[in-house]
Amino acid sequence: MAQQPQAGKVGESPSEKRGKQIAASKLRKDVGSGETIRRSPRDKESDLDRAPKWEPRYAGSNRLKGKVAIVTGGDSGIGRAVCALFAREGADIAIVYKNNISDADDTAAIVRSEGRDAILIKADVGKTSAGEKIASRVLAKFGRIDILVNNAGEQHPAEDIRDISPEQLQLTFATNIFGMFYLVQAILPHLKKGSAIVNCTSVTMYQGSGGLLDYSATKGAITAFTRSLSENLVDKGIRVNAVAPGPIWTPLNPRGGAPAKKVATFGETTPMKRPGEPNEVAPSFLFLACDDSSYMSGQVLHPNGGTIVNG
Ligand SMILES: NC(=O)c1ccc[n+]([C@@H]2O[C@H](COP(=O)([O-])OP(=O)(O)OC[C@H]3O[C@@H](n4cnc5c(N)ncnc54)[C@H](OP(=O)(O)O)[C@@H]3O)[C@@H](O)[C@H]2O)c1
Repeated sequence: MAQQPQAGKVGESPSEKRGKQIAASKLRKDVGSGETIRRSPRDKESDLDRAPKWEPRYAGSNRLKGKVAIVTGGDSGIGRAVCALFAREGADIAIVYKNNISDADDTAAIVRSEGRDAILIKADVGKTSAGEKIASRVLAKFGRIDILVNNAGEQHPAEDIRDISPEQLQLTFATNIFGMFYLVQAILPHLKKGSAIVNCTSVTMYQGSGGLLDYSATKGAITAFTRSLSENLVDKGIRVNAVAPGPIWTPLNPRGGAPAKKVATFGETTPMKRPGEPNEVAPSFLFLACDDSSYMSGQVLHPNGGTIVNG
């Protein structure tokens, strides 16, 4: 069933705010005296007290009919909403996830409920072998690759640069940007004229983020990579673009990516005074993945609640 768009919605309802505050107090409890938490593989997106809205908001129109898309980080959050919308528009989907099998199963069921096929691929995109593993699984199942959505990401807050361990620095760069290289290297021989790559960067790349130094640096690298890869592939007829979401209500921040005090007021400093929902971001990915954006490459779209950024 199509969900109503949130057109013109400024601010949050009391129950939405309350959901955020409950999530923040649970985070405080889980973190205790430690600095961060890790989601367990069975920690479901639907357990969040304010449920992210992933449902497509309009009827499909075959924009991706017969196409095959790989969506990394496809099990939850923005990736789930992208899988649901792409399936509604006619694509079969390879859902790449790292740990969260519960969410991955739920997203596969969503894709199948749209009448499309899904495979689940468990892979750590930051490992050098992940690209080949993912490509070979997708080709064995579907025989083609048309769209790559590089969406997997990790984020760990640190107020002081000296609190970022070498291991954390390397992990964040491995997941957020190295993985994009590995996957593009592996699938490039199989892409054809008309294929599209859409990368997920972030508003933190444009605004800066004092508490997310390593994360925002990877997002800067992703935007530069997007522009350079676009130049590199344009003669092959392959377009490369990116989406830079603002604060979006997904498991990323309330389950370890932000301190509890930020979760409690998440999104309220945007001009729209609220976080966005995953299904308010997925249409940007769809636009850049389908032929509607046939004259665009090397560009970034900004579903961010009205924050003006350059580029
Ligand atoms: N939410 C926001 O406010 C916001 C704002 C700007 C940009 N973004 C970006 O949006 C993208 C999606 O995040 P989200 O907000 O939708 O959060 P999310 O629901 O937590 O999604 C992150 C996804 O990345 C996957 N992942 C993490 N590390 C991985 C690895 N090494 N290999 C494979 N998959 C890995 C996770 O898989 P598992 O679930 O299996 O661990 C999860 O599916 C990220 O790139 C994030 O930086 C988010």
